[in-house]
Amino acid sequence: MTGKADERRLRTGGRTCLAVVLAAGEGTRMRSQTPKVLHTIAGQTLLRHVLGAVRSAGQARVAVVVGPDHAAVEAEARSAMPDADTFVQTERRGTAHAVLAARPALARGADDILVIFGDTPLIRPQTLAELRGALADGAAVAVLGFRSADPAAYGRLVTERGRLVRIVEFADASEQERGIGLCNGGLMALAGDRALAILDRIGNANRKGEFYLTDAVAVARELGLEARAIEVTEDEVSGINTKAQLADAEAAMQKRLRQAAMDAGVTLVAPETVFLCDDTRLGKDVTVEPYVVFGTGVTVEDGATVRSFSHLHGAHVGPRAIVGPFARLRPGARLEEGVHIGNFVEVKEALIEKGAKANHLTYIGDARVGEGANVGAGTITCNYDGAAKHRTDIGRGSFIGSNSSLVAPVKIGDGAYVGSGSVITADVPADALALGRGRQTVKEGWAGRLRGSKPAGKKNEVKSG
Ligand code: UD1
Ligand code: MG
Repeated sequence: MTGKADERRLRTGGRTCLAVVLAAGEGTRMRSQTPKVLHTIAGQTLLRHVLGAVRSAGQARVAVVVGPDHAAVEAEARSAMPDADTFVQTERRGTAHAVLAARPALARGADDILVIFGDTPLIRPQTLAELRGALADGAAVAVLGFRSADPAAYGRLVTERGRLVRIVEFADASEQERGIGLCNGGLMALAGDRALAILDRIGNANRKGEFYLTDAVAVARELGLEARAIEVTEDEVSGINTKAQLADAEAAMQKRLRQAAMDAGVTLVAPETVFLCDDTRLGKDVTVEPYVVFGTGVTVEDGATVRSFSHLHGAHVGPRAIVGPFARLRPGARLEEGVHIGNFVEVKEALIEKGAKANHLTYIGDARVGEGANVGAGTITCNYDGAAKHRTDIGRGSFIGSNSSLVAPVKIGDGAYVGSGSVITADVPADALALGRGRQTVKEGWAGRLRGSKPAGKKNEVKSG
């Protein structure tokens, strides 16, 4: 941000603000049963991203405008921001009409009114501050402009001698206007003492018969007030209307999150192959190898390594632990310091204590694995009996031989051994050896007799019958 912008931001400090977040659109172009603002990028709904930016921008009252049939949108708004007011736009008659659905909030007054679209999740808090800065500077309306290689159907900012005079929607634009490179980002700031006067003068004489918020610019000019455009980069304001734009926004958000992780001291060997969530927390000197996916709710502490092709979700990885390659950590997986979880190991709702290891082909669910225990290849905690889940408790320093099934509820004592291939159905005391497998029998010469006493290794000579 420029020094000038910093100054403006400081000047907004004492001003009150109302942010009106529009989330009542149908999102027809998404071709989905899910309301548009409830689609997700980086693990969070578009609406939650937007409300997060509003919160970070500072003390604003927030009004969220939702559609009449969108209880789920209202619930998401309340969960993301419990102190936000919600208003229902009973008929969808355009963006200005939607803002006026929050009339009671507007009437309570604020120095600055910010109108923010629920489908613009990449907006940065500092840009909201810049919009408010323009109001502090004397503008009655401030809008965001951006340039795009593919300006598609965005509204265009019409300027005369460098001054913003109106915004024309694509559907209503002439060929010449469609050629304008500066697009409307949609978000807008309105001077609180003028907002209702401006919004109430907006009509719907346009191709769609809608009340366009964009007309606030022309109306302000008619009233002899100043409208101003602030140019920002496209990734920040490009609205999401289609699934392809949703994917573009995901890509832009991932780029930001990877950069932020690296800035904080995380090593991403191939950043473009690592997928993060908004709430992913990676400590210093964490190394993430290529092709790793982080779902929501993951923390990885300092010095841990997440190796290729691992998938983590709702998991906590302790310092200097090693996860993967090909590991799956599901919700409730908690790995303490120095734990090793290796290839084709799945952990769910389980505490793996300091230094314990499960390196190959294992399922650990609803369990505790004590400090320093070694869980051999192919071990399965049989946690589900078809009706309920049960717990497995594996003592510290114990050794679970390969290919064992631990049928929960069951407890393996500290320092105990379980012989390979056991099916353990009863508790094992500390320091004991438990064997739960068929005893081996050996029949000398049996195979030779089967082959008619011919030496082993000669093929196709075994007589049948
Ligand atoms: C809008 C702008 C366009 C700009 C583009 C940027 C208008 C008239 N046009 O177009 O100039 O280039 O954003 O992304 O403002 N909504 C309601 N109620 C309604 C209509 C919309 O709540 O009746 C909400 C939607 O949920 C959405 C936001 O307003 O969050 C914007 O609506 P949308 O239909 O996406 O507008 P665009 O056609 O993208
Ligand atoms: Mg849009």
